[in-house]
Amino acid sequence: MTRIPLILDCDPGVDDAVALLLAFASLDRLDLRGITTVAGNVGLAQTARNARMLRQLAGGTAERVPVFQGCARPMVREPIAADHFHGESGLGNLAIFEPALPVAPGHAVHFIVETLLREPAGTVTLVVTGPMTNVAMAMRLEPAIVPRIRQVVFMGGARAEAGNVTASAEYNVHADPHAAAVVCGSGVPLVAFGLDATHQVRSTPARIAKLRALGSVAARAAADLLEFSAALEWNVATGRGAPLHDPCPVAWLLAPELFELVPCHLDVEIASPLTLGHTAVEFRPQPGRALHVRWATRADDAGVFDLLAQRLARL
Ligand code: RIB
Ligand code: CA
Repeated sequence: MTRIPLILDCDPGVDDAVALLLAFASLDRLDLRGITTVAGNVGLAQTARNARMLRQLAGGTAERVPVFQGCARPMVREPIAADHFHGESGLGNLAIFEPALPVAPGHAVHFIVETLLREPAGTVTLVVTGPMTNVAMAMRLEPAIVPRIRQVVFMGGARAEAGNVTASAEYNVHADPHAAAVVCGSGVPLVAFGLDATHQVRSTPARIAKLRALGSVAARAAADLLEFSAALEWNVATGRGAPLHDPCPVAWLLAPELFELVPCHLDVEIASPLTLGHTAVEFRPQPGRALHVRWATRADDAGVFDLLAQRLARL
C-alpha cells in the first residue's frame, strides 16, 4: 500500500499529542515529511517543544521526522490560548523534559512552501489540528502552492454542535478565523472534522485503561494525557468523557471507513465580533460553487479507539 505523503501542522495540546503519537505509530502508512507547529493552545515555544517531546517518546523512526517552528500569533486577531484545557505546559500533567533533538532550522511556513513546490503536484496532504495560521501564511507567501496541495484534512468548526469556545465557534477556527477563511476560501480540497464528529469520539475510563495496559512509554503517556482531559471534561450528568478531537483527521487517513463525510460549502465568519470564527456549513448546492469540502457527520468511536490501541501497541 502506497504511503501517504503529509505534513502535520499542530498546536500540542493534549489531543494534538495523541494525534502525533498515532501518526508516529503509523509511519508504515504515513510518509510524514515533517511536523510544523503553531501558537494556539499554548505559546509557540511550548508547542514546538511539546512536538519534539512526543517525537522522543515515540522513538524509533519517528526521530527522523523534523519538527519546525511556525507562526507565533494569529494573522489578524489577538491570540487566545487554551491552557485552561491543556495545562500550563500544554501537555496536561505529563513530566516535561527538554528533548534531545532540536527544532529543525528554518520557518515552518517556508518548509510547507518548499515541500509543496518540490513534491509532485497533488501528492502532499496537509493535516491541521490547530489554528490554520501556518497554512494560510504559506498560501499568501506562495500562491502557486494552492493547486499543488492534494487536500487539507483538518480538525475545526462546528455545524450541528454549538461552539466550544464561544456559543457559535470552535476553538481552532475562532483562534485564527482569518487564516481559516483564507484556507477554506482557497478552493483547495478540504476534509473537515468539526465538533459534529469529534464530539462522538469520547474517552472513557475503560478505553483509557486499555491504552495504559499496552505498557509502552508512549501508550502510558497517551493514557495520562486523556486522563487529564477526562478529569476536566467528565460530565457526571451524561457520563461522557473528553472528546478526542485531533486524532480524528489522522484516523481518517488510516481508516476512512470509520467516518461518514458529506459534501458541502464551508464559509468562515470574520466580520461579526459575536460570531467570529463561526463555520457556515451548507450541504445544499449553491449555483456556480463547487462542493469542494467534505464535512464529517458520523464517527465510529469504538473503531477510532481500537485503531489508536492497535497503533500505539507498535510503539
Ligand atoms: O476545538 C478543539 C481544538 O481546539 C483541538 O485542536 C484542541 O487541541 C484545541 O486546540
Ligand atoms: Ca489542537
